[in-house]
Order: sequence, then C-alpha cells, then structure tokens
Amino acid sequence: MREKLRYMSGFGNEHASEAIAGALPVGQNSPQRPPLGLYTEQISGTPFTAPRRDARRTWLYRIRPSAGHPAYRRIDHGLLCSELADPTPNRLRWDPLPMPDGPTDFVAGLVTMLSNSDREAGTGVSVHIYCANQPMRRVFWDADGELLVVPQQGQLALATECGLLDISPGEIAVVPRGVRFRVALPDGQARGYILENHGPALRLPDLGPIGANGLAQPRDFLAPVAWFEDRTEPTEVVQKFVGVLWATELDHSPLDVVAWHGNHIPYKYDLARFMTINTVSFDHPDPSIFTVLTSPSDTPGTANADFVIFPPRWMVAEHSFRPPWFHRNVMNECMGLVHGAYDAKAQGFVPGGLSLHSCMSAHGPDATTVEQAMAADLAPRKIENALAFMFETRQLLRPTRHALEIPALQRDYDACWQGLRRHFMGERA
Ligand SMILES: [Fe+2]
Repeated sequence: MREKLRYMSGFGNEHASEAIAGALPVGQNSPQRPPLGLYTEQISGTPFTAPRRDARRTWLYRIRPSAGHPAYRRIDHGLLCSELADPTPNRLRWDPLPMPDGPTDFVAGLVTMLSNSDREAGTGVSVHIYCANQPMRRVFWDADGELLVVPQQGQLALATECGLLDISPGEIAVVPRGVRFRVALPDGQARGYILENHGPALRLPDLGPIGANGLAQPRDFLAPVAWFEDRTEPTEVVQKFVGVLWATELDHSPLDVVAWHGNHIPYKYDLARFMTINTVSFDHPDPSIFTVLTSPSDTPGTANADFVIFPPRWMVAEHSFRPPWFHRNVMNECMGLVHGAYDAKAQGFVPGGLSLHSCMSAHGPDATTVEQAMAADLAPRKIENALAFMFETRQLLRPTRHALEIPALQRDYDACWQGLRRHFMGERA
C-alpha cells in the first residue's frame, strides 16, 4: 500500500521514503554502488557540526546528481527583492495585490513587500506576496532561506525533490533552503503570503508551563513520501541567490529523487489542527501564545521570526477588554489575513491584505472596535470563520520602494485611530 501513502507525520523527524522498493540503502548512507544505479547526494540545511537537536540534513538517492549543470546566468527578477526604501516608523497597510494581467507563474508572481537588509548574514526575513495564474514549467530553489508559504486564495500543488505537497488556504507549507520544487495551480490562479526565513530553520516553540501538549502538535506536520519523475526534456532551473534570480538549463528534470531519508524536508500543516490556548479567567494573553513555528536567534526568547496565528477560538475573558490591547513592541509585526475579519479591525484589513507595525510603533484596535469592545456584553463569544496571522521578527523590516508606490498602499491607514475618543473622568468628547 506504500504507493497510496501521500504523507508521513511528525515534525522534525528523520523520515525515510522510497518510491521504488529497495531504492533506499540500508545501514549505509553512501554505498559504492547505490541500489538501482542511483547517485547519492546529501543536502545539509545546517552545518555538519550543528547540535543534534538543530541539525537538518537529508540523503537523496537520485537518477542524476545536482552537480551536473551548466553555469547559472542572471535573469530578470521582476519585483522579487526589488530595491528597499529607507526604514519608516510609520504604520503601513496594503490592500490585496491584484492578480496579474498576463501569464504569470509562481516565481514570476513573487512581489517582495518587506525585507531586512541582512539577508547575506544568515539572519532576518523577507515577506513576499505571490499572485500567479500559470503553472510553473520550470523548477525553483532558494539559496537565501526556507520558504513558509501561506495560501490565501487557491490551492497550490507543489512537486518537490522529496515528493508532492498539496496545500489550500488554511494550510501552510515549508520548503527548506535549497530544496527544488515546482508549483501548479489546481484552481487556475492563486495568491498568498511567503515568509522567507534567512535565519535558523523554523521549529516548534518550547511549551514551558503549558506542558507536553498543545499549540501545534508534532504529529500533525506532514512530510511527503518519495516521488520522482524520469523526464529527459529541457528543464529550466531557477535559483534565488542573494536576492536575485539565476537560471540554468538541464536536459532532464531535477525532480528525480527516487528515495531519501533525513529531516531537511518540506512539510505541510493544517492550521485548523492548532490547539489554541487562551485565558479562561481575565485579560488577553500576549500573542506569543498563538505561536505555530519559531526561528530562534542567538538571544534566548528573541525570535529571528515567529509565525503566529489568530484562528477561530472562544473569547470568555471576564471584565476584560477583549480585542488586542494598544501596545508598542520592540519586535516588528507584519500581519496578513487568510479569510474572515480580524478582531482588532472593524474595516480596512481585508483577506489578502498586509500590514506592518515596526519596532515601537503604537498600534492596536481601531476606533470603532474600541468603542464596541468597551460597550460589549461579555458573554462567551466565539470568533469564527476568521484566520489572521503574524510574522514577527526582531529585525527591522524595510518596505520595498515598489510597495510604497503601488495603489494597494492605504495612504490613510492612520485614520483608523483618529476617532479614538476621550473618556477621561467620564467625559465624552
Ligand atoms: Fe501588535
């Protein structure tokens, strides 16, 4: 029944998979003559000497090794990693980017909205939005980081070196640094968000006093089973390297891995499986309680990047202001919305939109939400049919010049807080 399996479960596990029985060597990584006449290749996502709990690497058994390629040449990178503007302390919000007019595949449809400027340093993140209407004919890989893909509209069918991953809005996929993949669009077009993580690989957060269970649970992360194509036809391979694109052409598909074992592998996760933990007494916990995945930094508790979600959940807090409180945060917060309405904004933040609240910028619920929350009947209420998320990072994010020039930028974003009324000493201004 192996061929009917599509996924294996478990986060960070050393998985093993073979598309043809006997393709995976037993008891040895690199035999003199691997089974079936395959080549052996290791892909290392961490240094060889990384501590065991952090180490990521996968052994690939493939028809031809990746080394057999002509030189890469620079190609146009469109709106991917376009020029960064100066950092701004101002709060920014965008409407959804429009679908492209002409034929556009997943790579051509990448638009960089935010990035730090240290992508060569192995730290930080970039935030891209993809809008695509054509399946990829080429194969892509990213030398600059791993890709956390958050679909907002339309399914994505990923064919990767390690197997097939299908994701829909409400699910996420992570493709590790260096792993090759191709994206098809079963719904014809697709839009979504990408966190490109230049720092340490995403992992599950420690749970501390929460205990051994809760939040995102390891068994709900799904890795693909081995799958390959034995295609001898010209195939363009595109890599992202230090912010720009380079291409070469092979005479075969590089998605020719017949068997593999390791943990530097793509995976998917259904955000509906997230076990949300929240108050059952009073007050609104810090949003870190909703962390799905985290990329640590050298400083404990200070993430290179956190991926945080605001899923459907009960609100039961007594005598509490239930929306997110007003705050200023040393971390930089980038938010997106997959579907529904986010509980801190009455309007303006729509599915497919994006916002940035940089280090110490003051933000919180808009004026309408505040008035409603202060007058609300505090009976238990369920937030339903909504899925917002946050990419939170210690690195200052700079918008691209393009992001500041497009019509989707809401030039009146500050106005949502202009109606905040005085209540001091009971007055009603
Ligand atoms: Fe915030």
